[in-house]
Amino acid sequence: MNASRQQVVDYFEGTRWDYRHLWRSEKAGALHFGFYDQGIRNHVTALRRMTGYLASVVGITPEDRIMDAGCGIGGCVIRIAERFGCRATGVNITPFQITAAREAARRAGVEDNVEFVEADFTDTGLPAGSHTVVWALESVVHVDDKEAFLREAHRVLAPGGRLMIAEYLVREDPAPTPAEEAELRTWCQGWAMPGLLSEAEYERLLRKQGFEEIRILDISHHVAPSLRRLGWLVRLLGPTAPAFRRTGVLAPVPADNLIASAAQIRMFDAGVWRYKVVTARKPGDADPAVGTPAEPAP
Ligand SMILES: C[S@@+](CC[C@H](N)C(=O)[O-])C[C@H]1O[C@@H](n2cnc3c(N)ncnc32)[C@H](O)[C@@H]1O
Repeated sequence: MNASRQQVVDYFEGTRWDYRHLWRSEKAGALHFGFYDQGIRNHVTALRRMTGYLASVVGITPEDRIMDAGCGIGGCVIRIAERFGCRATGVNITPFQITAAREAARRAGVEDNVEFVEADFTDTGLPAGSHTVVWALESVVHVDDKEAFLREAHRVLAPGGRLMIAEYLVREDPAPTPAEEAELRTWCQGWAMPGLLSEAEYERLLRKQGFEEIRILDISHHVAPSLRRLGWLVRLLGPTAPAFRRTGVLAPVPADNLIASAAQIRMFDAGVWRYKVVTARKPGDADPAVGTPAEPAP
Protein backbone atom coordinates (compact mmCIF):
# COMPACT_ATOMS: atom_id res chain seq x y z
CA MET A 1 0.00 0.00 0.00
CA ASN A 2 1.41 3.44 -0.86
CA ALA A 3 2.28 5.91 1.92
CA SER A 4 -0.75 8.19 1.56
CA ARG A 5 -3.15 5.19 1.60
CA GLN A 6 -1.40 3.88 4.72
CA GLN A 7 -1.88 7.32 6.33
CA VAL A 8 -5.62 7.04 5.70
CA VAL A 9 -5.78 3.60 7.32
CA ASP A 10 -3.66 4.84 10.26
CA TYR A 11 -5.94 7.86 10.64
CA PHE A 12 -9.13 5.77 10.84
CA GLU A 13 -7.51 3.22 13.15
CA GLY A 14 -6.17 6.01 15.36
CA THR A 15 -9.52 7.81 15.60
CA ARG A 16 -11.70 4.73 16.01
CA TRP A 17 -12.49 5.53 19.65
CA ASP A 18 -13.29 9.19 18.82
CA TYR A 19 -15.69 8.29 16.01
CA ARG A 20 -17.43 5.63 18.08
CA HIS A 21 -17.80 7.50 21.35
CA LEU A 22 -17.76 11.19 20.43
CA TRP A 23 -19.48 11.02 17.01
CA ARG A 24 -21.67 7.99 17.84
CA SER A 25 -20.71 6.65 14.42
CA GLU A 26 -21.90 3.09 14.98
CA LYS A 27 -25.45 4.19 15.77
CA ALA A 28 -25.88 5.33 12.17
CA GLY A 29 -22.98 3.52 10.51
CA ALA A 30 -21.74 6.99 9.62
CA LEU A 31 -18.30 8.59 9.46
CA HIS A 32 -19.66 11.78 7.94
CA PHE A 33 -21.46 14.99 8.84
CA GLY A 34 -25.18 15.15 9.48
CA PHE A 35 -27.85 16.81 7.31
CA TYR A 36 -30.35 18.99 9.16
CA ASP A 37 -33.75 19.76 7.67
CA GLN A 38 -37.39 18.92 8.41
CA GLY A 39 -36.98 20.13 12.01
CA ILE A 40 -34.24 17.58 12.82
CA ARG A 41 -32.51 18.37 16.11
CA ASN A 42 -30.91 15.02 16.89
CA HIS A 43 -27.34 14.19 15.81
CA VAL A 44 -27.89 10.51 14.93
CA THR A 45 -31.09 11.32 13.01
CA ALA A 46 -29.16 13.95 11.03
CA LEU A 47 -26.41 11.41 10.22
CA ARG A 48 -29.04 9.01 8.85
CA ARG A 49 -30.85 11.81 7.04
CA MET A 50 -27.68 12.59 5.04
CA THR A 51 -28.07 9.23 3.25
CA GLY A 52 -31.78 9.84 2.56
CA TYR A 53 -31.14 13.34 1.26
CA LEU A 54 -28.30 12.24 -1.06
CA ALA A 55 -30.39 9.29 -2.29
CA SER A 56 -33.05 11.80 -3.34
CA VAL A 57 -30.45 13.95 -5.12
CA VAL A 58 -29.20 10.91 -7.05
CA GLY A 59 -32.73 9.61 -7.66
CA ILE A 60 -32.05 6.07 -6.42
CA THR A 61 -34.52 3.36 -7.51
CA PRO A 62 -34.75 -0.35 -6.66
CA GLU A 63 -33.14 -1.22 -10.02
CA ASP A 64 -29.94 0.69 -9.27
CA ARG A 65 -26.64 -0.99 -8.46
CA ILE A 66 -24.62 1.31 -6.20
CA MET A 67 -20.89 1.38 -5.66
CA ASP A 68 -20.06 3.27 -2.45
CA ALA A 69 -16.46 4.45 -2.83
CA GLY A 70 -14.91 4.72 0.62
CA CYS A 71 -17.91 3.16 2.35
CA GLY A 72 -16.64 3.50 5.93
CA ILE A 73 -18.54 1.13 8.24
CA GLY A 74 -21.28 0.60 5.69
CA GLY A 75 -24.15 2.78 6.89
CA CYS A 76 -25.07 4.25 3.47
CA VAL A 77 -24.86 0.91 1.66
CA ILE A 78 -27.00 -0.79 4.29
CA ARG A 79 -29.61 1.99 4.50
CA ILE A 80 -29.95 2.18 0.71
CA ALA A 81 -30.32 -1.61 0.45
CA GLU A 82 -32.96 -1.56 3.21
CA ARG A 83 -34.89 1.39 1.84
CA PHE A 84 -34.78 0.65 -1.91
CA GLY A 85 -34.03 -3.08 -1.99
CA CYS A 86 -31.30 -2.48 -4.54
CA ARG A 87 -27.88 -4.08 -4.76
CA ALA A 88 -24.84 -2.21 -3.44
CA THR A 89 -21.09 -2.70 -3.21
CA GLY A 90 -19.02 -0.95 -0.56
CA VAL A 91 -15.35 -0.37 -1.38
CA ASN A 92 -12.89 0.55 1.34
CA ILE A 93 -9.17 0.27 2.08
CA THR A 94 -9.50 0.25 5.88
CA PRO A 95 -9.76 -3.43 6.87
CA PHE A 96 -11.44 -3.07 10.29
CA GLN A 97 -14.18 -0.94 8.71
CA ILE A 98 -14.88 -3.64 6.10
CA THR A 99 -15.28 -6.18 8.92
CA ALA A 100 -17.60 -3.81 10.82
CA ALA A 101 -19.64 -3.15 7.65
CA ARG A 102 -20.12 -6.87 6.95
CA GLU A 103 -21.26 -7.46 10.54
CA ALA A 104 -23.67 -4.51 10.38
CA ALA A 105 -25.12 -5.80 7.08
CA ARG A 106 -25.70 -9.20 8.66
CA ARG A 107 -27.40 -7.62 11.67
CA ALA A 108 -29.61 -5.55 9.33
CA GLY A 109 -30.49 -8.68 7.31
CA VAL A 110 -29.35 -7.20 3.98
CA GLU A 111 -26.25 -9.36 3.45
CA ASP A 112 -27.76 -10.96 0.31
CA ASN A 113 -28.06 -7.54 -1.38
CA VAL A 114 -24.72 -6.03 -0.41
CA GLU A 115 -21.06 -6.88 -0.60
CA PHE A 116 -18.01 -5.16 0.84
CA VAL A 117 -14.73 -5.25 -1.04
CA GLU A 118 -11.37 -4.34 0.47
CA ALA A 119 -9.84 -2.30 -2.35
CA ASP A 120 -8.64 1.13 -3.36
CA PHE A 121 -11.45 3.07 -5.01
CA THR A 122 -9.03 4.31 -7.68
CA ASP A 123 -8.51 0.68 -8.78
CA THR A 124 -11.40 -1.46 -7.55
CA GLY A 125 -11.07 -4.52 -9.77
CA LEU A 126 -14.88 -4.43 -10.25
CA PRO A 127 -16.15 -5.21 -13.77
CA ALA A 128 -16.50 -2.31 -16.22
CA GLY A 129 -20.07 -1.00 -16.52
CA SER A 130 -21.20 -3.04 -13.50
CA HIS A 131 -22.88 -0.22 -11.49
CA THR A 132 -25.48 2.46 -12.22
CA VAL A 133 -24.44 4.80 -9.38
CA VAL A 134 -21.05 5.65 -7.91
CA TRP A 135 -21.51 7.28 -4.52
CA ALA A 136 -18.64 8.95 -2.63
CA LEU A 137 -19.47 10.62 0.67
CA GLU A 138 -16.55 12.50 2.28
CA SER A 139 -14.09 9.98 0.81
CA VAL A 140 -12.51 11.26 -2.45
CA VAL A 141 -10.96 14.07 -0.42
CA HIS A 142 -8.62 11.42 1.07
CA VAL A 143 -6.79 10.74 -2.22
CA ASP A 144 -4.26 12.95 -3.93
CA ASP A 145 -5.04 11.64 -7.44
CA LYS A 146 -8.72 12.58 -7.73
CA GLU A 147 -8.49 12.08 -11.47
CA ALA A 148 -7.66 8.41 -10.93
CA PHE A 149 -10.86 8.06 -8.90
CA LEU A 150 -12.96 9.79 -11.59
CA ARG A 151 -11.44 7.53 -14.27
CA GLU A 152 -12.29 4.44 -12.22
CA ALA A 153 -15.82 5.72 -11.49
CA HIS A 154 -16.36 6.28 -15.21
CA ARG A 155 -15.11 2.76 -15.99
CA VAL A 156 -17.28 1.06 -13.35
CA LEU A 157 -20.43 2.98 -14.39
CA ALA A 158 -22.82 1.64 -17.01
CA PRO A 159 -23.84 4.08 -19.79
CA GLY A 160 -26.11 6.75 -18.32
CA GLY A 161 -24.74 5.97 -14.83
CA ARG A 162 -24.67 8.69 -12.17
CA LEU A 163 -21.81 9.90 -9.99
CA MET A 164 -22.32 11.64 -6.65
CA ILE A 165 -19.51 13.15 -4.59
CA ALA A 166 -20.28 15.00 -1.35
CA GLU A 167 -17.39 16.74 0.32
CA TYR A 168 -15.55 19.94 1.23
CA LEU A 169 -14.73 22.29 -1.69
CA VAL A 170 -12.33 25.17 -1.30
CA ARG A 171 -13.22 28.75 -2.28
CA GLU A 172 -11.63 29.90 -5.51
CA ASP A 173 -12.41 33.62 -5.53
CA PRO A 174 -10.76 35.17 -3.66
CA ALA A 175 -8.16 32.43 -3.32
CA PRO A 176 -7.26 31.56 0.29
CA THR A 177 -4.65 33.87 1.81
CA PRO A 178 -1.29 32.36 2.92
CA ALA A 179 -2.59 32.30 6.52
CA GLU A 180 -5.74 30.49 5.40
CA GLU A 181 -3.64 28.08 3.31
CA ALA A 182 -1.67 27.26 6.47
CA GLU A 183 -4.91 26.56 8.39
CA LEU A 184 -6.17 24.37 5.53
CA ARG A 185 -2.90 22.40 5.67
CA THR A 186 -3.32 21.85 9.42
CA TRP A 187 -6.81 20.52 8.83
CA CYS A 188 -5.87 18.34 5.85
CA GLN A 189 -2.77 16.86 7.51
CA GLY A 190 -4.66 16.03 10.71
CA TRP A 191 -7.46 14.31 8.75
CA ALA A 192 -5.20 12.41 6.29
CA MET A 193 -6.44 14.46 3.32
CA PRO A 194 -3.92 15.54 0.65
CA GLY A 195 -5.95 18.65 -0.26
CA LEU A 196 -9.29 20.08 -1.35
CA LEU A 197 -10.47 20.84 -4.88
CA SER A 198 -12.51 23.86 -5.94
CA GLU A 199 -15.71 23.71 -8.02
CA ALA A 200 -13.81 24.70 -11.17
CA GLU A 201 -11.18 22.00 -10.61
CA TYR A 202 -13.85 19.31 -10.16
CA GLU A 203 -15.70 20.47 -13.26
CA ARG A 204 -12.52 20.40 -15.34
CA LEU A 205 -11.56 16.90 -14.18
CA LEU A 206 -15.10 15.57 -14.67
CA ARG A 207 -15.29 16.91 -18.22
CA LYS A 208 -11.83 15.51 -18.98
CA GLN A 209 -13.07 12.03 -18.00
CA GLY A 210 -16.13 12.46 -20.23
CA PHE A 211 -18.81 13.15 -17.60
CA GLU A 212 -21.71 15.43 -18.50
CA GLU A 213 -24.68 17.10 -16.76
CA ILE A 214 -22.39 18.34 -13.99
CA ARG A 215 -24.26 20.01 -11.13
CA ILE A 216 -22.92 21.36 -7.87
CA LEU A 217 -25.14 22.10 -4.88
CA ASP A 218 -23.99 23.98 -1.78
CA ILE A 219 -25.58 22.29 1.25
CA SER A 220 -23.40 23.98 3.88
CA HIS A 221 -26.44 25.50 5.51
CA HIS A 222 -27.85 22.01 6.23
CA VAL A 223 -24.51 20.68 7.48
CA ALA A 224 -23.60 23.68 9.67
CA PRO A 225 -25.36 22.35 12.82
CA SER A 226 -23.26 19.20 12.57
CA LEU A 227 -20.12 21.34 12.35
CA ARG A 228 -21.32 23.25 15.40
CA ARG A 229 -21.55 19.95 17.26
CA LEU A 230 -17.95 19.19 16.28
CA GLY A 231 -17.03 22.73 17.36
CA TRP A 232 -18.52 22.06 20.77
CA LEU A 233 -16.40 18.89 21.12
CA VAL A 234 -13.31 20.79 20.00
CA ARG A 235 -13.93 23.54 22.57
CA LEU A 236 -14.32 20.90 25.26
CA LEU A 237 -11.31 18.72 24.39
CA GLY A 238 -9.20 20.78 21.97
CA PRO A 239 -7.32 23.05 24.40
CA THR A 240 -5.67 20.03 26.01
CA ALA A 241 -4.71 18.36 22.70
CA PRO A 242 -1.29 20.01 22.03
CA ALA A 243 -0.07 19.48 25.62
CA PHE A 244 -1.48 15.94 25.80
CA ARG A 245 0.19 15.14 22.47
CA ARG A 246 3.56 16.46 23.72
CA THR A 247 3.38 14.50 26.96
CA GLY A 248 2.12 11.32 25.30
CA VAL A 249 -1.24 11.30 27.14
CA LEU A 250 -2.94 11.43 23.75
CA ALA A 251 -1.53 9.58 20.72
CA PRO A 252 -0.55 11.83 17.77
CA VAL A 253 -3.42 10.76 15.49
CA PRO A 254 -6.36 11.62 17.79
CA ALA A 255 -4.55 14.76 19.07
CA ASP A 256 -3.95 16.00 15.51
CA ASN A 257 -7.55 15.08 14.65
CA LEU A 258 -8.76 17.56 17.28
CA ILE A 259 -6.28 20.25 16.27
CA ALA A 260 -7.31 19.74 12.63
CA SER A 261 -11.03 19.95 13.46
CA ALA A 262 -10.51 23.31 15.14
CA ALA A 263 -8.80 24.60 11.96
CA GLN A 264 -11.60 23.17 9.83
CA ILE A 265 -14.24 25.08 11.78
CA ARG A 266 -12.27 28.33 11.71
CA MET A 267 -11.93 28.00 7.93
CA PHE A 268 -15.66 27.28 7.54
CA ASP A 269 -16.50 30.38 9.57
CA ALA A 270 -14.09 32.38 7.39
CA GLY A 271 -15.88 31.12 4.25
CA VAL A 272 -12.75 29.38 2.90
CA TRP A 273 -14.57 26.11 2.14
CA ARG A 274 -18.14 24.94 1.67
CA TYR A 275 -19.87 21.56 1.89
CA LYS A 276 -21.03 20.67 -1.63
CA VAL A 277 -22.64 17.85 -3.56
CA VAL A 278 -21.23 17.24 -7.04
CA THR A 279 -23.31 15.12 -9.44
CA ALA A 280 -22.55 14.10 -13.02
CA ARG A 281 -23.61 11.53 -15.57
CA LYS A 282 -21.72 9.16 -17.83
CA PRO A 283 -23.04 9.67 -21.37
CA GLY A 284 -25.22 6.97 -22.90
CA ASP A 285 -28.70 5.57 -22.57
CA ALA A 286 -29.45 4.25 -19.12
CA ASP A 287 -31.66 1.25 -18.58
CA PRO A 288 -35.10 2.97 -18.54
CA ALA A 289 -35.91 1.30 -15.21
CA VAL A 290 -33.14 3.07 -13.30
CA GLY A 291 -33.45 6.52 -11.79
CA THR A 292 -32.55 10.02 -12.88
CA PRO A 293 -31.18 12.72 -10.62
CA ALA A 294 -33.87 14.75 -8.93
CA GLU A 295 -33.42 18.43 -8.17
CA PRO A 296 -34.33 18.86 -4.53
CA ALA A 297 -34.08 22.36 -3.13
CA PRO A 298 -30.68 22.76 -1.41
C1 LIG B 1 -14.66 10.10 6.23
S1 LIG B 1 -14.83 8.41 5.87
C2 LIG B 1 -16.43 8.38 5.12
C3 LIG B 1 -16.99 6.98 5.13
C4 LIG B 1 -18.37 6.83 4.54
N1 LIG B 1 -18.44 7.32 3.18
C5 LIG B 1 -19.36 7.57 5.41
O1 LIG B 1 -19.80 8.61 4.95
O2 LIG B 1 -19.66 7.11 6.51
C6 LIG B 1 -13.76 8.14 4.45
C7 LIG B 1 -13.68 6.67 4.05
O3 LIG B 1 -12.97 6.58 2.81
C8 LIG B 1 -12.12 5.45 2.88
N2 LIG B 1 -11.03 5.66 1.89
C9 LIG B 1 -10.16 6.69 1.84
N3 LIG B 1 -9.34 6.56 0.79
C10 LIG B 1 -9.71 5.42 0.14
C11 LIG B 1 -9.24 4.76 -1.02
N4 LIG B 1 -8.23 5.23 -1.74
N5 LIG B 1 -9.88 3.64 -1.41
C12 LIG B 1 -10.91 3.13 -0.68
N6 LIG B 1 -11.38 3.71 0.44
C13 LIG B 1 -10.79 4.85 0.86
C14 LIG B 1 -11.65 5.42 4.31
O4 LIG B 1 -11.13 4.17 4.70
C15 LIG B 1 -12.95 5.78 5.03
O5 LIG B 1 -13.72 4.63 5.24
